[in-house]
Amino acid sequence: MEYFAHQTACVDEGAHIGAGTKIWHFSHIMPGAVIGRGCSLGQNVFVGDRVRIGDGVKIQNNVSVYEGVVLEDGVFCGPSVVFTNVINPRSEIVRRGEYKNTLVKRGATLGANATIVCGRVVGPYAFVAAGAVVTRDVPDFALVAGVPARQIGWMCRCGAERIRFDGSFGHCSHCGADYRLEGKRVRLAGSDASDGAIQSSSPAATLMQEK
Ligand SMILES: CC(C)(COP(=O)(O)OP(=O)(O)OC[C@H]1O[C@@H](n2cnc3c(N)ncnc32)[C@H](O)[C@@H]1OP(=O)(O)O)[C@@H](O)C(=O)NCCC(=O)NCCS
Ligand SMILES: [Zn+2]
Repeated sequence: MEYFAHQTACVDEGAHIGAGTKIWHFSHIMPGAVIGRGCSLGQNVFVGDRVRIGDGVKIQNNVSVYEGVVLEDGVFCGPSVVFTNVINPRSEIVRRGEYKNTLVKRGATLGANATIVCGRVVGPYAFVAAGAVVTRDVPDFALVAGVPARQIGWMCRCGAERIRFDGSFGHCSHCGADYRLEGKRVRLAGSDASDGAIQSSSPAATLMQEK
């Protein structure tokens, strides 16, 4: 199965797009972009050169994914999420080559209108609330909100409930997943445990390994 691009979308020659991915109205994919399988890119989405997007990523309307951004498998970008790649832009000074990378790890959610200041890592299954401005790395499974974004809890992988902790043992009453708090880090417990790494089968992962 090939990918689908609406007739108003502009997919530049050289872009690599996985099977089953759908690209909707007025979106633009640059030549060096790599997008995995089964993704959905809504209306007016821009994907820059050398951007890496894993499998099963959903990007809602009006999102520009600029060069320097990597979205791992299963990431969700709400409508009008804002990425950045220059920390101190000035029109009169050329800052190409000074891009700071942004890495959004597997399964993380970025809420509507959230802004991710460049040079940050959003951990696996982290949840950024609508309208938050992320200025620091976001820990795995952390729920952050506000301007600047502060942690207000831990969100389960299912996204339906927060993780409730009793000492170092955490649990989701919605899906039953168990977690462990190790130092400041939350991990899935038991057979569900995952380090959140990008799946090695995705084109993005393959290209990143080649680099
Ligand atoms: C963060 C979020 C998941 C919290 O949902 P929730 O667990 O049901 O939380 P509640 O609505 O009970 O709110 C809990 C507290 O957080 C605050 N809060 C909720 N969302 C917030 C946000 N986006 N920014 C800042 N504070 C927020 C509430 O005001 C409340 O504060 P209080 O305890 O002082 O009254 C949700 O509000 C959110 O932002 N979801 C993202 C929606 C989105 O962008 N979808 C995109 C696809 S359309
Ligand atoms: Zn859950």
